[in-house]
Order: sequence, then structure tokens, then C-alpha cells
Amino acid sequence: EQRLATQASAALKAIARRPDIKGYIEHNPSSYALLQRAAARYVTGEERSQALEVANQLIDYGYAISLEYIGENTLSVAACQQAQQELIGLILEMGQQRVRGRVSFDLSHIGLLVDRELALRHLLELGELSQRYTIELFISMEESAKTESILEIYRQAVAIYPLIGITLQAQLNRTSSDALDMLAKDTRVRIVKGAYEEPDTIALSRSAELDQRYEELFELAVQRGCHISIATHDEALITRLLQYDSKEAASVELELLYGIRPELCVKLREQGYPVRIYLTYGQEWYLYLCHRIAEYPPNLFQALVDIVGG
Ligand code: FDA
Repeated sequence: EQRLATQASAALKAIARRPDIKGYIEHNPSSYALLQRAAARYVTGEERSQALEVANQLIDYGYAISLEYIGENTLSVAACQQAQQELIGLILEMGQQRVRGRVSFDLSHIGLLVDRELALRHLLELGELSQRYTIELFISMEESAKTESILEIYRQAVAIYPLIGITLQAQLNRTSSDALDMLAKDTRVRIVKGAYEEPDTIALSRSAELDQRYEELFELAVQRGCHISIATHDEALITRLLQYDSKEAASVELELLYGIRPELCVKLREQGYPVRIYLTYGQEWYLYLCHRIAEYPPNLFQALVDIVGG
């Protein structure tokens, strides 16, 4: 059953990336509008201003926020530069409006697949700007084929700009030793289970073993004095992690995706835990919607309800 679910999930993500299907939706206003209704649960809008509006509301309710301009696997220099300009605009606007928060992105959105040096240059530029406004930058973790280069670029950049954080995927077997190498006092680390379909020779699928590895990573990050984001919606796992004595950590917070388990966010915040909501925006919402459905199939029914209900 697990294998079937994984295959269905991989198929949905592959369909989402097909340019013919994306093209059909983009050129068919009625299907575009209907899918947008389903996406509205997870994506704040196409524009930066919409994301900032939701961010400010959530901050007023007592949450911290992360912001992502959706995009990945950008293949032309011009498109990477466009994404970079958007991130610069976002950091500037957050800085000027004093929106305290974190900016998250994929290195493949700003150049990793075009030229490693371009991605590094863009990251350093963002690092310098975000340092000026004390805004954290968080690098997302992508498929295993990119792990090595993402970690290398991160290491180079964080040595200059310590406000840069990194996401580690508990599902990858290599992560335990990467974490041993990398985690140090004040490292900013987000721990996730992992969103990508990987061969079982290099990764664990959803299982008790994966949860156990997640806990071990968390424990190590605590011992090393890191700033830790527990980024999962798995309530049982969250409950176990919150029972740890995490005094040695520089900080511990919970980070959940906008629109997913909002009742859990409220409960955790009301219990007094620091909760960060991860907001997204941008024109690539369709891909993001497919990812959220693929990782949790009941969301397909939720999407139908959202479409029909308007
Ligand atoms: P898991 O998949 O085990 O699900 C546990 C429970 O959580 C489910 O039973 C359900 O109740 C709930 N749940 C999970 N997903 C849901 C959904 N879509 N809708 C509704 N309920 C859901 N991944 C990655 O590879 N690289 C990255 O950089 C990031 N970045 C990132 C940032 C943040 C802030 C978060 C929260 C997550 C990521 N991820 C990620 C995604 C992550 O790897 C993972 O795919 C998702 O969080 C889903 O897995 P969970 O850990 O939530 O638990």
C-alpha cells in the first residue's frame, strides 16, 4: 500500500511538471480559475503584496513567518535573474516594512541548474542584503542528485553570512553524517522528513524508522546548540520532540506549511510554543498545489470541495 501511494505521488508530481499539461491549464482560463480556488488553501496569491498581507495578519496573531516565492529547476539565466530580482524585492520590502521573518528558496530557482557559480553569486548577494535587515535566509533541500552541491554552496555562503540556514531531510541516509559534519553552535537548521521520491538504497520511506532518525537529528541539533525548526505536521512526532530537554539548543520552534493542519498550529501556539507558518506566493502555484496533494492524497478530496464550493 505504501509503495502504491508513493508511486501515485511520484506520478502526480511528474504530471505537474509536464509542460503540455501546465500549458493547457495556463491557456484555459476556466480550469485555471478552478484550480486556483484549490490552491488558495495553500498559496497566498500570485503577488508579493498578497503574501505580505497574510504575513502581517499572522504576525498579529502571534506567529512567526517564512516566505517563499515559488519556483524550482529554472533553466535559463534570464529566469534565474528574474527570480533573484523578486527575492531582492521581497527582502527589501520586508526590511523596509519591518516584517520580521525568514525568506526560503530553492537554489535551483536562482541558478543551480544553469551554473553553480551563478547560484552562489545570487546567494551571496541575498546574504548581504538580508544581513542588513537581520532577515534569515533558508535554503530548501531538493532531490538527492542536488544534495552535495546545495550543501557545498551553503557552507561557502554561511561562512560569510551566518543568518543563512539549511534544510536537512531525515529521509536521506546520508543526512546523519552530513549533520554530524555541519551542525555547530548557532547553525540554523530546519529538519524535514523529505518531500522527494528517492530510491530505497539511499533513503527511508515514511516509517517508524524515519521518525526515529528524525528524533536523532533533532537530538544532535540540540546538543550542538543550533537554532532548530521542527518542520513537520506529524503531531505524534511533534509531541515526542517537545518532551525533550532542549535547553542546550539556541532555539527551538515549530514550522508548518500554510493551510496544512491549521488547527494544530493554533493548538501549539495556544500551548505557548513558538510556531512559524511557511507562506508561499507566485505564479508557479500549480506545481505547489500538486505537491501538497501528492504528499497527502486526502487533499485531493479537499481540493474538489474547494473547487466546487468556490
Ligand atoms: P508525514 O508526511 O509523515 O505526515 C504526517 C501527518 O501530517 C499526516 O498523517 C497528516 O495528518 C499531516 N500531513 C502531512 N502532509 C500533509 C498535507 N499535505 N496536507 C494535510 N495534512 C498533511 N521537504 C523537502 O524535501 N525539502 C524542503 O526544503 C522542505 N521544506 C519544508 C519546509 C517546511 C516548513 C515544512 C513544514 C515542510 C517542508 N518540506 C520540505 C516538506 C516535508 O519534507 C514533508 O514532505 C511534508 O512536511 C509532509 O511530511 P510531514 O513531516 O508533515 O509528515
